[in-house]
Amino acid sequence: MSHVGIIGTGSYLPEHIMTNDDLSNFLDTSDEWIRTRTGIRERRISTDMTTSDLAYEAGVRALENSGLKSEDIDLIICATITPDYFMPSCACIVQDRLGAINAAAFDLVAACTGMIYGMVTAEQFIKSGMYENVLVIGSETLSKVLDWEDRSSCVLFGDGAGAVVMSKSRDGGKILTSKLESDGSKYNLLTCSAIPLQNPYVNIDNSKEAKIEMLRQPKIKMFGQEVFKYAVRTITDNINYILNKAKLTKEDITYIIPHQANQRIIEQASKSCKIPIDKFFMNLDRYGNTSAASVGIALDELLSSGQLKRKDRIILVGFGGGMTSGSILLEWS
Ligand code: COA
Repeated sequence: MSHVGIIGTGSYLPEHIMTNDDLSNFLDTSDEWIRTRTGIRERRISTDMTTSDLAYEAGVRALENSGLKSEDIDLIICATITPDYFMPSCACIVQDRLGAINAAAFDLVAACTGMIYGMVTAEQFIKSGMYENVLVIGSETLSKVLDWEDRSSCVLFGDGAGAVVMSKSRDGGKILTSKLESDGSKYNLLTCSAIPLQNPYVNIDNSKEAKIEMLRQPKIKMFGQEVFKYAVRTITDNINYILNKAKLTKEDITYIIPHQANQRIIEQASKSCKIPIDKFFMNLDRYGNTSAASVGIALDELLSSGQLKRKDRIILVGFGGGMTSGSILLEWS
């Protein structure tokens, strides 16, 4: 049976760099606190580009890298929690700008696990024979939904986009196995509200507090410590599950690309999986947590660095709001 694989990657980060010191100019925080608690030194913040602009730039790069033309793409999936519009989808805007006239296009919401959900979805479409070439993009402008007065959350995130082109495997990374998971009972741990119910018959909670809350712009809210514990547990469970399923051992894995949320989460997961920390790829010091974009950006950077060799095996593992989690085992060829 032929495998589904990655035949091109790309990423795009907005130019503007926001350092920890920049944050401490208007927040009660410090470079020392942020670095020691998270590993983050700086992040990129978009000053003029929307989520679909970033997605387009990452998509163009992945397409060029794959050697395909935009007309060859049958499906575009954009994973994002910060779209430009409720409608149209970010994927449709990207389709138009790329001139991918033969593609279907839709957005997918799985928060920080978005790239992995997108890739596994693409894998199924290709395996079923419905589509041949799929462009998967994770793109976010999280800066527009951050509460810039909440020091425990806004310091963690940044903007950016990552993309992969997937097809029946030729050269590149082929997917050996994958897994998706959700735990909706924990949906409240990490949220970003949309608009409230608004119509002539609205009759929900008339309390003043509820009204004030409803009038607020969408903002990310988070129970940090609970999310931290969920993240460590879920990275560990995913890695163990996927190794078991593929009948491989930790020694068979060259790199792990975890969702780039917090260095301490990754260090604790490394300990609990008993996999050396130097196998875990990290770039969160430069970009912070870019949600659905993070795994795609990291994969693109790892590939561009030329460190991957034939037969190297990589685990991509993500977690995020929902709560959602997922993982993919890739073999490079
Ligand atoms: N600067 C300075 N102090 C800060 C701060 C900041 N940016 N953010 C929080 N603090 C303070 C808190 O107010 C608290 O002060 P107090 O003891 O006086 O009340 C103290 O630091 C400790 O807070 P705590 O929440 O216990 O810190 P922590 O070690 O759990 O780190 C997070 C907080 C958010 C960094 C950590 O919980 C985390 O990374 N969680 C996971 C979040 C995540 O990854 N979300 C996205 C998942 S996709």
